[in-house]
Amino acid sequence: MGCLPVPASWPLKRWLGLGLIVLHCITLGCAQEKKVAKSKVGEEVGLPCCYKIPSSESLQNYRVYWQMNVTDVVLAYSGGEKMTDEQHSRYVNRTRLDFENLTLWISSVEILDSGPYQCIVQSLQSSPDKPGSHLLCGEPVTLFVTADFSKPNIEREVTASSCESTEMVVRCSSHGGFPKPKIYGILNNASVVLNTTWESESSVSPYNVTGTLWLNVTKDINFTCFVEYDGFVRSTSLLLAKANDCIVSTALPPYNVITASSISIITFLLAVTLAVKYLPRHACSHCSKNQASAEDDVKEIMNQPHSCKVTCEMSSL
Ligand SMILES: *[C@@H]1O[C@H](CO)[C@@H](O)[C@H](O)[C@H]1NC(C)=O
Ligand SMILES: *[C@@H]1O[C@H](CO)[C@@H](O)[C@H](O)[C@H]1NC(C)=O
Ligand SMILES: *[C@@H]1O[C@H](CO)[C@@H](O)[C@H](O)[C@H]1NC(C)=O
Ligand SMILES: *[C@@H]1O[C@H](CO)[C@@H](O)[C@H](O)[C@H]1NC(C)=O
Ligand SMILES: *[C@@H]1O[C@H](CO)[C@@H](O)[C@H](O)[C@H]1NC(C)=O
Ligand SMILES: *[C@@H]1O[C@H](CO)[C@@H](O)[C@H](O)[C@H]1NC(C)=O
Ligand SMILES: *[C@@H]1O[C@H](CO)[C@@H](O)[C@H](O)[C@H]1NC(C)=O
Ligand SMILES: *[C@@H]1O[C@H](CO)[C@@H](O)[C@H](O)[C@H]1NC(C)=O
Repeated sequence: MGCLPVPASWPLKRWLGLGLIVLHCITLGCAQEKKVAKSKVGEEVGLPCCYKIPSSESLQNYRVYWQMNVTDVVLAYSGGEKMTDEQHSRYVNRTRLDFENLTLWISSVEILDSGPYQCIVQSLQSSPDKPGSHLLCGEPVTLFVTADFSKPNIEREVTASSCESTEMVVRCSSHGGFPKPKIYGILNNASVVLNTTWESESSVSPYNVTGTLWLNVTKDINFTCFVEYDGFVRSTSLLLAKANDCIVSTALPPYNVITASSISIITFLLAVTLAVKYLPRHACSHCSKNQASAEDDVKEIMNQPHSCKVTCEMSSL
């Protein structure tokens, strides 16, 4: 649509003759570079106009007409008076005009505010060379509204695992942003393409995005997921650890520990038994009368020298 406000809503047509608009295009050249403004949802943005009212004059001498997408009146002033009748309901109470440089301020910016705007300024003062009201300038500004995406969330699901490798599905998702984003990943240092799905209620609604990656991992790798939208980037990193399924073979240590401790315990018990066996023999060899006990008796029976055994038994009696 460039600088052609011809199909504008009727109020503009009422103000400006078609001839003037054509003249304007010839004068300024319709191929002029488009201005761009950016804003985030909820913020206030100022759209620059093409004319600055000289300090010697006031808004009284002008008509200022801000329109959006050719058909919607955003804000209009004529002879210093705000023209509320024609204002589109979406812009009521959200817009104001800088009376000097004619910047349009829009507060509580919404995704729907994205689009082409145009500032049209007309002088109400007659001058000898330009009788009646005449067009001073009309310039398009495109507003790009962005909404921040949430920090990407990475989830992984192991689908198969062996000692050598771990197969997994890695999903990276982010939501609530605008415009439609790009999502991609980096594995260690190499970029990877993610199978991407977008969800949005309409082309002017926030997007949810999910990127999926199937991986066969043979060692731990660092995965970073990036969500990029209108020059902004959000990212999250996750170390994708290889599931160590070789742990089955090395899972024996607990067993070994048990076996080892069992052996120690058995050895200890044996040693004690032997010691117990041995000590009484000493006692027996002295054949001390007070030393005997029932326990000793049992042990003695087995392999004590006969003589001693007899003595001991006798002593215990
Ligand atoms: C217009 O004036 C306002 C405040 O006076 C300033 O913040 C804004 O940057 C100006 N815009 C332009 C395009 O000069
Ligand atoms: C705009 O503000 C006025 C006064 O605060 C209020 O009465 C009116 O309902 C508002 N209009 C909209 C569309 O918010
Ligand atoms: C601008 O107008 C066109 C046609 O009138 C419409 O299809 C489009 O959705 C409008 N864009 C915006 C941002 O309102
Ligand atoms: C990644 O690549 C950069 C240069 O391309 C290099 O400086 C860096 O050491 C690399 N990092 C790893 C972990 O390979
Ligand atoms: C992406 O996922 C869809 C659905 O799971 C599948 O049909 C498609 O083949 C996948 N594309 C690639 C390139 O893996
Ligand atoms: C996007 O994600 C949010 C939060 O996960 C959810 O509430 C919303 O319904 C999703 N929107 C769409 C269009 O799927
Ligand atoms: C993953 O890698 C292992 C060994 O590197 C291989 O045996 C297995 O078939 C691979 N799986 C897939 C799905 O490529
Ligand atoms: C993974 O890579 C990112 C970006 O290259 C880096 O910021 C992060 O510290 C790395 N994380 C690990 C665990 O290596």
